[in-house]
Parts: sequence; structure tokens; C-alpha cells
Amino acid sequence: MAHNIAIIVGSLRKDSLNRRVARSICSFAGDILDCGIVEIGDLPLYNQDLDTDPPEQWTRFRQTIAAADGVLFCSPEYNRGIPGVLKNAIDVGSRPYGQSVFDKKPAAIVTASPGSIGGFGANHQIRQAAVFLNMPVMQAPEAYLGHVSDDSFGEDGCIKEGPLKELIKVLAHAFHDWVDMIHRSRQLLAEDSAHASQQAKAKEHA
Ligand SMILES: Cc1cc2nc3c(=O)[nH]c(=O)nc-3n(C[C@H](O)[C@H](O)[C@H](O)COP(=O)(O)O)c2cc1C
Repeated sequence: MAHNIAIIVGSLRKDSLNRRVARSICSFAGDILDCGIVEIGDLPLYNQDLDTDPPEQWTRFRQTIAAADGVLFCSPEYNRGIPGVLKNAIDVGSRPYGQSVFDKKPAAIVTASPGSIGGFGANHQIRQAAVFLNMPVMQAPEAYLGHVSDDSFGEDGCIKEGPLKELIKVLAHAFHDWVDMIHRSRQLLAEDSAHASQQAKAKEHA
């Protein structure tokens, strides 16, 4: 079964490497992940004063994330950290307090950079926020994609044949299995609990 995945890209750049990595994941894993990139560039900066009457862009973003089976973050690293636009989207989705749309959503994190350490710093800052937000974050494979450049992509805009493409395919399959395991476990627990309460009721009436 293809899972519905919301991809949040931490770059607004038209020719973003990370956006192209995200598109490659959508293309290579279309049979198992039904991916859509959720735009975040139009989200007004988070301001707690607006929680009582939120901008419609916040509502649209929150609804899209809430409807997804999982969230995939694809982001560059800015100054060894999370780009502001992505941090804003995370903050918007996490509020109002107690109504975070990220709660319990399985997540995976990919960071890509022309640099050699592949956005390691940003990757772990995203991970820290995701863990705090109670998202089960896929541990492996980790994806710090270094030395990514325009040359990494073919004319179709997707990653060319080679080790990077293979890694992305492995990651997409692992994320599918991760999302699947989490949703199935929850379903089984819910069934177990329904069964136990039926049995308890039956005993009461016996
Ligand atoms: C404000 C800014 C800060 C950056 N800081 C880092 C950094 O800390 N580490 C890194 O590997 N690359 C850094 N870069 C380079 C980006 O990795 C590179 O521009 C990349 O192409 C951005 O991702 P994108 O192509 O998805 O937009 C920075 C770029 C900008 C614009």
C-alpha cells in the first residue's frame, strides 16, 4: 500500500538541490510512497497572538500535515543549522499547544549539500525538534547527502544513476516500511484494546 507522505523542503530556491532530491524520491518510490511537497514559503511567521484567529496559510499547512501518514524533511543546512523557513513551518505545525499536527507522525530526515558533511548539523537540529514533537523518527539509513550539485541530476530533474540514487531508493523503501510498521502496530493495539473491552463487557453480563 502506498503511504501518503508530506514532504517539507527547507529551501525556497527555484533550483534547490533539496527540492530536486525530494522530487527524485517521489519519482523513484511512486509505487510505495504517494508523495506531495507541501509549500511553506507563504507561511506568515509564527506569532502566538494569531493562534485564536490563524492565517489561512497556517490552516492549509496544518490540514495537509494532519492528513498525511508520514512527514519527510528534505533540507539544506544554513550556517550549521535549520533554515529559518523550515523552523517557522515546524513551529506553525506544532501549535496551538496540545494540537500539534506533528504528534505521532512518523518522520524521516534527508539533508543535501554541495559541502562534504551533507548538512549533518541541520539534520540533527531537525531530528531534535521532531523528537521533541513526539514524531517517531526513522533512525536508519541516515541521509547526510554530501557533494550534491547540479551535476548530480539528469535532464528529467532527478538524481542520475549511481550510488546516490541507490541510497535514495533504499531510504524510500526503509521509510515506507517504517511508516507501515508504525501504523500497523497502532492498528493492532487498537484492535487488542477493543477486543479486551468487549471481553470485559461480556464478563460483566455473564
Ligand atoms: C545562508 C546560507 C547558509 C549556508 N550554510 C551552509 C552550511 O552551514 N553548511 C553547508 O553545507 N552549506 C551551507 N550553505 C550552502 C548550501 O548548502 C547550498 O547553497 C545549497 O545549495 C542550499 O540548498 P538548496 O540547493 O536546496 O537551496 C549555505 C547557504 C546559504 C544561502
